Amino acid sequence: MLGFVISFIFALVAILVLQQDWVQIGINTPSSAVPPARLITAHELSLYIGDENSRGLYLAILGQVFDVEKGKKHYGPGGGYHCFAGKDASLAFVTGDFTDAGLNDDVSGLSPAQVVALYDWLAFYHKDYWPVGRLVGRFYSQSGEPTEVLLKVEAVLEEGKRLHDQVQAENQQLPPCNSEWSGDRKGRVWCSNKSGGVQRDWVGVPRKLFSRGSGQTRCVCVQNSSRVENANIREYEGCPPHAESCPITE
Ligand code: HEM
Repeated sequence: MLGFVISFIFALVAILVLQQDWVQIGINTPSSAVPPARLITAHELSLYIGDENSRGLYLAILGQVFDVEKGKKHYGPGGGYHCFAGKDASLAFVTGDFTDAGLNDDVSGLSPAQVVALYDWLAFYHKDYWPVGRLVGRFYSQSGEPTEVLLKVEAVLEEGKRLHDQVQAENQQLPPCNSEWSGDRKGRVWCSNKSGGVQRDWVGVPRKLFSRGSGQTRCVCVQNSSRVENANIREYEGCPPHAESCPITE
């Protein structure tokens, strides 16, 4: 009987804690990005830089705070990435600018693809380190709610994922060619059943694809040359229509 009462109390407490989390973060927050409810100020975070006087070793990314003590060789004093300790330097994860000016959390100027890359870092910290809370500031309000800024970044993330999926789908249809170049701007392009990272059961023939707008060309493998109905695709000059490899002399 006592065992049952204790289990019941544990279950009740667990439900209450989880419910509090759900209410605070909202259902639209991506599940990979759900930080614990503990609120941490920028000043408090700055005390976690891993030196002998500090309380531990933390860093933040997109307002989510992680305990990175087990990565002390990277983030501790003297480590190559100590600049990330005790702060949110989200921008520098994408730009690689580790100067004082570059180490900040203003990601409003990032492209959708860069925001996807930033969220890859966030996923990395969720996988390898321990999440400890939310940094009150740009991405989380005083009550721990996602700010307008975070919601905007999440919208850019969705756009980035959409563009990424679109490129993937295009690459399946028209995979990039293999290519090799010699010093004098000569080379060759060719198709195989794995080119441009796309594994397939056909080889195809190299064709020039003119991109809309920029006027630039890139080589794509076309599955059946007789059925190409794309005005932006041309044959390579001096290359037989059914050849799997074409010399380039530009
Ligand atoms: C945008 C630029 C870059 C960022 C933001 C970045 C960030 C990081 C971070 C945060 C870690 C630690 C990962 C962990 O916790 O395990 C790391 C590790 C590492 N980075 Fe970078 N990095 C960048 C560029 C580079 C470049 C250009 C190189 C190579 C020339 C490099 C080489 C390494 C190596 C070798 C490690 C692992 C070190 C070890 O395990 O001892 N990084 N990087």
